[in-house]
Amino acid sequence: MSIQWFPGHMNVTRKAIAERVPDIDVVIELLDARLPGSSANPLLAELTRGKPALKVLNKQDLADPERTRLWLAHYQAQVGTHAFGLDASEPAPAKRLIDACRALAPNRGGMVKPMRVLICGIPNVGKSTLMNSMVGQRSAKTGDEPGITKVEQKILLASDFYLFDTPGMLWPRVSVIEAGYHLAASGAIGRNAFDEEDVALELLARVRGPYRDRLEARYKLAGLKDVKGLDALTDSELLELIGRKRGGLMPGGIVNRQKASEIVLHDFRSGAWGRITLETPDEFALWHAAGEQREAERAARKAARLAARSKGSGRRADDAGDAPDDLDADIDDDLDDDYGEDDKV
Ligand code: G4P
Repeated sequence: MSIQWFPGHMNVTRKAIAERVPDIDVVIELLDARLPGSSANPLLAELTRGKPALKVLNKQDLADPERTRLWLAHYQAQVGTHAFGLDASEPAPAKRLIDACRALAPNRGGMVKPMRVLICGIPNVGKSTLMNSMVGQRSAKTGDEPGITKVEQKILLASDFYLFDTPGMLWPRVSVIEAGYHLAASGAIGRNAFDEEDVALELLARVRGPYRDRLEARYKLAGLKDVKGLDALTDSELLELIGRKRGGLMPGGIVNRQKASEIVLHDFRSGAWGRITLETPDEFALWHAAGEQREAERAARKAARLAARSKGSGRRADDAGDAPDDLDADIDDDLDDDYGEDDKV
């Protein structure tokens, strides 16, 4: 099962980004250092293809430093891309951003050719925190630019350095199933879009291997007399055990699985397990490839359906000729796929 969500004001933000991109010299994407692959927006990659990119792995204080190193190396190896880790304790984030952008677009700068940089990121990645700290430091908000969009903010970070800020944006369809769970676990997706127990179980499954010692320490699981060893527990039994250890019991000694799930999610989000990263570049590449495969199969099914439809009643015959990059049509088709065309209102 995969998590799907309603991406809020995505279309407005997407339009704002699409309008701004031609004038942009560098695109900064703020990623969650605990889930860099999952928090990278495929829609943004499509909209900004070919632009110099700065990947900022934010909240690095919560992430596994060894895995952050792997991700940074992964991004640094990409053409036209620079990457560094960041967190809210950084005293001068503006300087690091400015320096990195200048290195990526050395032909820009000065009053005649000021640097124009777009900053994007999923909800809850820490963008407001970063922007507030930079505005407090050395920049001045110059306000919305009429005619472009009401959602964008233009900020002067240096006399020849403009930062265009857009609202946090999610995308309409998650093809990498693991990414949906990781985004939900991180708090990027509204809680109504997923079942907390499903996400907590997936989270435990992901961390119990590489970070087993953290779980044992946090929930005092080592050397328990009355339970099987941690390795012998299913994810579901592990969740129950955590619920029992952390006061998630209902009358009659039954574990409140909802409460246990909330504890697990809260502990991950707050860093109570220590510094954890849910994915490595290699793992994510495998999940991504599997997701692409699923999407290709889905597209083939859709094409077959449309062909059959136009051959049969002749209804919606034009759909077969939709441009593949027409995102609005894709969203419509996704609704068809997820709910059936007849369920649409
Ligand atoms: P957004 O604009 O991208 O949606 O995110 P925002 O800055 O609102 O940050 C989301 C949450 O992440 C906030 O916590 C914020 O304090 C926290 N945060 C931001 N940057 C960092 C960081 O580098 N490290 C850590 N550990 N946390 C960070 P919150 O619980 O929602 O609010 P609050 O505790 O600040 O009140």
